[in-house]
Amino acid sequence: MPYDGQPLAFGGDYNPEQWPEEVWEEDVRLMREAGVTLVSLGVFAWARTEPRPGEYDFGWLDRVLGLLHGAGIGVALATPTVVPPAWFYRAHPEALPVTREGVRLAFGSRGAICHSDPHYRAAAQAITARLGERYGRHPAVVLWHVHNEYGAPVMSCYCATCERAFRNWLMDRYGTLGALNHAWGTAFWGQQYGDWDEIGVPAATPTVANPAQQLDFRRFADAQARAGFRAERDVLHRLSPGVPVTTNFMAAPSQCDTADYWAWAKEVDVVTNDHYLITDGRRTQVNLALAADLTRSLAGGAPWLLLEHSTSAVNWQPHNPAKEPGQMARNSLSHVARGSEGAMFFQWRQSRFGAEKFHSAMLPHGGTGARVWREVVELGARIGELADLRDTRTRADVAMLWSWESWWAQRLEWKPSAALDARERLDAFYEALYDRHLTVDFFPPSAAGDLDPARYPLLVVPQLYAAPASLSAALERYVSRGGTLLVSFFSGIVDEHDAVHPGPHPGALRDVLGLTVEEFDPLLPGERITVTTPRGETYEADLWSEHVVPGDGCETVAVFAGGRTAGRPALTRRALGEGAAWYLATRLTGDALAAVVDLALADAGVTPADLPRDVELVVREGESGTYRFAVNHTGGEVKVTLPDGRQAAVATGAVEVFREPR
Ligand code: GLA
Ligand code: ZN
Repeated sequence: MPYDGQPLAFGGDYNPEQWPEEVWEEDVRLMREAGVTLVSLGVFAWARTEPRPGEYDFGWLDRVLGLLHGAGIGVALATPTVVPPAWFYRAHPEALPVTREGVRLAFGSRGAICHSDPHYRAAAQAITARLGERYGRHPAVVLWHVHNEYGAPVMSCYCATCERAFRNWLMDRYGTLGALNHAWGTAFWGQQYGDWDEIGVPAATPTVANPAQQLDFRRFADAQARAGFRAERDVLHRLSPGVPVTTNFMAAPSQCDTADYWAWAKEVDVVTNDHYLITDGRRTQVNLALAADLTRSLAGGAPWLLLEHSTSAVNWQPHNPAKEPGQMARNSLSHVARGSEGAMFFQWRQSRFGAEKFHSAMLPHGGTGARVWREVVELGARIGELADLRDTRTRADVAMLWSWESWWAQRLEWKPSAALDARERLDAFYEALYDRHLTVDFFPPSAAGDLDPARYPLLVVPQLYAAPASLSAALERYVSRGGTLLVSFFSGIVDEHDAVHPGPHPGALRDVLGLTVEEFDPLLPGERITVTTPRGETYEADLWSEHVVPGDGCETVAVFAGGRTAGRPALTRRALGEGAAWYLATRLTGDALAAVVDLALADAGVTPADLPRDVELVVREGESGTYRFAVNHTGGEVKVTLPDGRQAAVATGAVEVFREPR
């Protein structure tokens, strides 16, 4: 496990280079007061550490590390490779990334990275090696934090170096031009390539660029960044044996499809994530729970670490409300409930200058008199008391399939409806399960065949547009052994090259679902369609309808009551072996979606806990015992029933942890 023998992590990004040295002692004194156990140090400090090419100033870092170590505070030491200094770009302006429109981005912000640039790669290796040599065995260093949020803000660079690297990557992937032409479907619109050098990056084109080319370019960009990570990680493994290496993911923001985190998760020693509340009118705790469940799933169910969240407001949304009293602790402990080995923040001391001076921090502009500070101190004590739950694992109830690659494909242009949004469906199904107080483990499609129905009686596939043809057989295995599968529309349509599977839709799922889809018939904005069941229930749907043709053994549970698809199945169920496969051919939201999820849950034999809405009950268990986290997001006190029958009160806004020793 990561940083063995350490307490739960509590702390944040520490950027002492923004402050005069006199402040550092106060920082460390206040960190102790707050119960800080871990800080991320040096994330943006390349220019301070290497002020001129090859000229290093480690004195300040020595002193900061010494102060922290003296106070018993662990350090997640960062490689500052997300911010090469100004001198680097002056010498190598071609290392600045180029946008799809051909604009070379400028220095003066952060994350101006072209991951293919050889000068950047060499410089990143060099600074990493210097840090590894100097601090690889420093007793304060318990974790390495490589780079920062790979892909934020730029993952894909369209420069000439990337173009050459892309061609090489394609040669490795396809071997022959014939294979590439076939995979990309270049027969369409006369795009055949006769020479590798004719192939470019999918830069701005007059109209839609080849979808398979676009997809491969995303894969390439992701792989380039990952290669950069691996290179730094390997240096650190050599120079800092035994110290785990991570990089902070952004696993769940609804618009952030930057990286394929299933691939990234295989590369890190410990999975870490950053999570911020988005003010979009939705219940923020649902996205938080999803993020935490997804991050734990990336870690294969093992404990992970929340490396950043905020004590209060962020500063990068149009409107940035402060967190209410108690909300910070509720957020932090919700992450812990779902497997995080602590709670870290961006950042320790609120900046006075720069782009993020209005972003909250552990030590706000208002100083130690401020509410946020008092809550930070309380939370530090609370997290300190939970030390025993280290290494326990969160228990999940049901499973979902999620694929970033499929989401990339789904987001490409010219689909049957521009309103299709796999992430929206993921959120919607997750919310329905959240409202039944169920904890979700996520899996990539490749894991479907190994899912154990005894452990995961329900598997939801919210919208898996791109999936391999083998998925159907994998899911038949799961269903026939007793699993209940619930698939939402526009799943299993294309392969990894965005080519439609042969035969009727949905090619990668039609066997397991026992049906075909003859034609898609999306609804117009504002248009709604009624779905009815034989028992007389009616649901209002929008966005999507289609002509489903059920096969033998596929029963129609609900039909479209009107519109162009009137009388056609909207919800089907196919019994298979000891389980069943459900298919929902339209978009339901809110209570209507919950009703369908309830049907599937009942079919799966899952009985949700009897709790009020907005109350979470999440269990971590392991050698040190069972920890039941009751999180109360409601405006009043609630009662939860413990396994021994006792009723326990949870105050409004509070989190209670009920522990049963083993
Ligand atoms: C990201 C970055 C941090 C900081 C925060 C602000 O997570 O990693 O450096 O900018 O956002 O919310
Ligand atoms: Zn580039």
